[in-house]
Amino acid sequence: MPKANPNPDKQDGAATAKRLVSGGVHADDTSLERTLRPRALDDYVGQTQVKENLRIAIQAAKQRGDALDHTLFHGPPGLGKTTLAYIIAQEMGVNVRVTSGPAIERPGEMASLLTVLEPHDVFFIDEVHRLSRVVEEVLYPAMEEQRVDVVVAGRGPGAARMLRIPLKPFTLVGATTRFSMVSAPLRDRFGSTFRLDFYTPDELKTIVLRSARVLGVQTDDAGASEIARRARGPPRIANRLLRRVRDYAQVKARGVITGPIAQDALGALQVDPLGLDGMDRALLRALVEKYDGGPVGLDTLAAAISEEPDTVMDVYEPFLLQLGFLDRTPRGSAATRLAYEHIGVPWPDNGKGAVQRGLL
Ligand SMILES: Nc1ncnc2c1ncn2[C@@H]1O[C@H](COP(=O)(O)OP(=O)(O)OP(=O)(O)O)[C@@H](O)[C@H]1O
Ligand SMILES: [Mg+2]
Repeated sequence: MPKANPNPDKQDGAATAKRLVSGGVHADDTSLERTLRPRALDDYVGQTQVKENLRIAIQAAKQRGDALDHTLFHGPPGLGKTTLAYIIAQEMGVNVRVTSGPAIERPGEMASLLTVLEPHDVFFIDEVHRLSRVVEEVLYPAMEEQRVDVVVAGRGPGAARMLRIPLKPFTLVGATTRFSMVSAPLRDRFGSTFRLDFYTPDELKTIVLRSARVLGVQTDDAGASEIARRARGPPRIANRLLRRVRDYAQVKARGVITGPIAQDALGALQVDPLGLDGMDRALLRALVEKYDGGPVGLDTLAAAISEEPDTVMDVYEPFLLQLGFLDRTPRGSAATRLAYEHIGVPWPDNGKGAVQRGLL
């Protein structure tokens, strides 16, 4: 029988592995994340709308004595999808079983994970878009009618039988960074779907202050703001930067994180005031200097900075788009005037903006 993977968090690819500001999990994040992970909905900062909807759904399910509806979370890495899966289980007062799409290879493995669930348990599948089709098909009757259909081989041709195994009512919680890659039949079987967004600097500041308290690090307001501002959206990055600044403060400033200390520490780590690191700047430089600002296709751009196209799309582009440094066009990404300004290259005054948008 397959084991539920206790730590399905995927890790970044080789080139990203050492990036301080990537949203993906680093090997040394894991134990810290467990410590810093909020356990109750009330401690979960931000995502107000999602939280309110969940709060009501959880309360209603508990009042009726039902399992919570199957729930799907999507959004970029490090925004708190896994955290919410654990919080749901905690708030419902049930166990959580954890696995991930690529960990389940055969339909039988999925069936055996489902049959051991206790009433109202949370079954968390991370990277749910990576389930194979045959494995996914086991989920359809499980989600809809609380049963699994197992084909049992018999002797001789045509002797195979279908065995129907009833399941206890459970809640499937799915998480994905790639909503568009979740198949339509699976998507349709979730009762609720929530999109998580990047956190505002104020929300990240609250998270940094909370994490600093948990870690026992003294941080003033300006220090927390500086870390929050450069964390570019995901709590995972805010916590990671906090940890690095803590080291710096310990060695250089008796352990107290102030605004200037955070600035010095992050400057030394090459995370600039907007939260861009050397890789982001390399991407913008490649786009501007090699491809005249673009538009240029994803694969070409990724190759120019020796990155995986997926990583460029999931990790680099969302943040650069949010800053207004990139435009997405049908022919690929293009650098905006703001991007030129940020890396200190004069914006070519030749109607470029219009060319990029396909207007000329
Ligand atoms: N709303 C929040 N409030 C406070 N801390 C948070 C919040 N969301 C996430 N965190 C922190 O960020 C870390 C990363 O969150 P989590 O692992 O849930 O992200 P994820 O969306 O599952 O990422 P991935 O896509 O890589 O699986 C958590 O360990 C937790 O410390
Ligand atoms: Mg996760």
